[in-house]
Amino acid sequence: MLVIPSGSFALVTGASSGIGEAIAERLAARGVPLILAARSARKLEALRSDWMARHGVAVETVAVDLSEADGPARLWEATEGAGRPVHLLVNNAGFGLNGAEAELPLEKTAEMIRLNVGATAELTHRFLVAMRSRRKGWILNVASTAAFVPGPWFGTYSATKAFVLSFSQALHEEAKRDGVTVTCLCPGYTRTGFHAVAGMKSADETPFFPVMSAEAVARAGLAALEKGRPFVVPHLFDRLWIASLRLVPRSVPPRLAAAFFRRSRLSGT
Ligand SMILES: NC(=O)c1ccc[n+]([C@@H]2O[C@H](COP(=O)([O-])OP(=O)(O)OC[C@H]3O[C@@H](n4cnc5c(N)ncnc54)[C@H](OP(=O)(O)O)[C@@H]3O)[C@@H](O)[C@H]2O)c1
Repeated sequence: MLVIPSGSFALVTGASSGIGEAIAERLAARGVPLILAARSARKLEALRSDWMARHGVAVETVAVDLSEADGPARLWEATEGAGRPVHLLVNNAGFGLNGAEAELPLEKTAEMIRLNVGATAELTHRFLVAMRSRRKGWILNVASTAAFVPGPWFGTYSATKAFVLSFSQALHEEAKRDGVTVTCLCPGYTRTGFHAVAGMKSADETPFFPVMSAEAVARAGLAALEKGRPFVVPHLFDRLWIASLRLVPRSVPPRLAAAFFRRSRLSGT
């Protein structure tokens, strides 16, 4: 059972929209004191006022760009470093880029790696050390179903999420000995602002794959964390195609993914 001791917080990165907002709101509704982090100070402030009024819960905000070199350290300083212990960390902030690697802007690709991989790894490390010393804590890292397949036209993004899944599964085994639960949430298509940012057609325009709401994904992630699972793929259909990957040679899934992600770009070229 996920219990946050009094005086402690749940910290959610990327809490200003989509899956992060839905996870944070579920926690707020359960009376968990929150620290919300993202770049958009105004969106965080609006959520803070709303949830304090509706759920009667303490909500603090930290406006931070986690893709900047010192972003994760600044978030640490504003939380644990400022005497606000974090018992639950949700590493959710992230974005994707759909397109041919050679055509994507290098600076944007590097920013994505710094956020999806660098910030997730640094925040996990920093907060894990504090949780380990208290012998209690919870970490939910948000990867993707893209973590399971090398995705042509989505290559760097898929690789960043493969890192998050591998890292989280490894730490799940290590950290449970110290009383810390690490779970990786691997959503499939989810109705959020993600696709517009990635330069993709919207989730609902995507053929074949099921689309979930951010709320349903948030529910699945928190339930898996409470059950102490190493990872969760929320939708049954996604669990089935991921299981089927083990039945074919390793060269086949990237070829199937190529046909799919090439067509999912907004430009359609
Ligand atoms: N939607 C999907 O289909 C899907 C599927 C699988 C996995 N995911 C993963 O789910 C996570 C959440 O994405 P979402 O779908 O909820 O998309 P979203 O609605 O675009 O939310 C992304 C969140 O990350 C924050 N963020 C982006 N860049 C940031 C930065 N440099 N520093 C700090 N915060 C930053 C955004 O806030 P600001 O803009 O205010 O900074 C926003 O709160 C991501 O890791 C994504 O890879 C999404």
